Amino acid sequence: MPLLAAPEPAGPGGMRAMQSDYMHWAKFKPPVRFPLTSSEVPHFRMDSLPLNLADLDMDGASHPRYAPLRAAIARRYGVTPEQVVAADGTSMANFLALAGLIAPGDAILVERPTYEPLLGAASFLGADVRRFERRADDGFRLDVDRIAAAAGAHTRLIVITNLHNPSSALADEADLLALRELAQRLDARILIDEVYLDSAVPPRRSAAHLGPEFVCTNSLTKVYGLSGLRCGWILAEPELAERLWRLNDLFGVNQAHQAERLACLAFDRLDDILGDTPAMLERNRARFNAFVEARADLECMAAEHGIVAFPRWLGGDSDALADRLRERYHTAVVPGRWFELPDHFRVGLGVPSDVLDEGLNRLGAALDDLQ
Ligand SMILES: Cc1ncc(COP(=O)(O)O)c(C=O)c1O
Repeated sequence: MPLLAAPEPAGPGGMRAMQSDYMHWAKFKPPVRFPLTSSEVPHFRMDSLPLNLADLDMDGASHPRYAPLRAAIARRYGVTPEQVVAADGTSMANFLALAGLIAPGDAILVERPTYEPLLGAASFLGADVRRFERRADDGFRLDVDRIAAAAGAHTRLIVITNLHNPSSALADEADLLALRELAQRLDARILIDEVYLDSAVPPRRSAAHLGPEFVCTNSLTKVYGLSGLRCGWILAEPELAERLWRLNDLFGVNQAHQAERLACLAFDRLDDILGDTPAMLERNRARFNAFVEARADLECMAAEHGIVAFPRWLGGDSDALADRLRERYHTAVVPGRWFELPDHFRVGLGVPSDVLDEGLNRLGAALDDLQ
């Protein structure tokens, strides 16, 4: 299957994205024994939930804006139910939020590097997508001065990920409050994809607490190992939340109700579901940091948060490295071209520690081969 380049962001008159090449690649890449491409923790086993079929309420009724799930999300994230909009995963939450926030031709600012489907969705919706840099030599920090320099009077929306995908850099509340000031000056909003935020150390509260300018998306996918439930949500000020619910009547109408029931069961015991994941991630980050430290051909800020890391390979284009790793060592990483930085690559730290250990051994061998 041919691998296509990441789409050019649609500028005025530019091509509108009609697909996500990254997502297609991520779904259909050949399987390997040591998949360090993953950005989520191991799947939680649903058969450990105290579940009987009656819990799934197979009554065929329609449950619009299913109140128990909305309340469970609101409780967990310390907001009111009126601020919560349900969506199928963070993916649909992002799409719905973007669709509600931008009109064709609106100027928006998106971080670079970023999660490619955010760019694709904005382009599909006809936004005039401009970019601002998060620089590797600055630890991919959210530099609000740089965002301000890239912004114009017409900027309607600023889009970031926090934790940052691919680097896991954390934007702290001081950064976010500075960003809020900028958004207020521009009369713009800020969309933050927070799907990795619960894996910050320690976990941070959602930016939804910092003001009505913030529109935050999240799901049970990455940190809780429940991607199959597709339980995602948007936190937004109530008026916008209402608009997004209404907009969703054009898209998905309702969530799959049985999945909503399962998500409620999961929310009732989310800390148990999290289990020893934070300890595993801490171990894996330490293992990764030691690996990078020992290699002269890699540069990477120390992994402190999150489930992924994004080292730079001094050997050049990481596609060559990814090919060698897959073909000779049955191991996979995400080539940096998917994040517009081909000399970087993304390593998933959410796999069991023995898998990470062996994956890193094999990565080391591939790097040695290519020296
Ligand atoms: C930043 C970001 N947002 C959203 C998603 C998708 O999340 P979900 O499975 O909840 O749709 C991913 C998955 O890689 C991601 O990295």
